[in-house]
Amino acid sequence: MVTEITISNAERKMLSEAGYGESAINYYLEKKYMGIIENADIISQKIGSCGDIMKVYIKIDDNNLINDVRYEITGCAGAISAAMAVVDLVRGKTIEDALKINDGDIFNALENIPEKKHHCIQLAVKTMHKGIKEYKIEKVL
Ligand code: FES
Repeated sequence: MVTEITISNAERKMLSEAGYGESAINYYLEKKYMGIIENADIISQKIGSCGDIMKVYIKIDDNNLINDVRYEITGCAGAISAAMAVVDLVRGKTIEDALKINDGDIFNALENIPEKKHHCIQLAVKTMHKGIKEYKIEKVL
């Protein structure tokens, strides 16, 4: 019998063999920040060089602290794991500190990711940065 557990274990093994670190695999399988925020303060979207699409929803409080972030993604395991790591790194930070988060920070949070997937990290970071920059323009910050 094929259960959800055996599917997830098989996926885990495939991702590990492909070069994904333990943390990246967990982010990908859990997908804990996938979805939308109904009353987001900014919604932004970016299309990667590969054609994959990311949409980010960001909730920002009056002190310019990032309360919450969600992503909608049509993309690969690299894109999903990177975006989920972005959320863990930016939540609770000021928008200025969130703008300082770079691809290297996300790579470290993922532990490892195949080299051909590094542009997926870029897409996750750039989409978040784009949303914050648009928010700053809108609020004249
Ligand atoms: Fe397109 Fe990963 S291959 S974001």
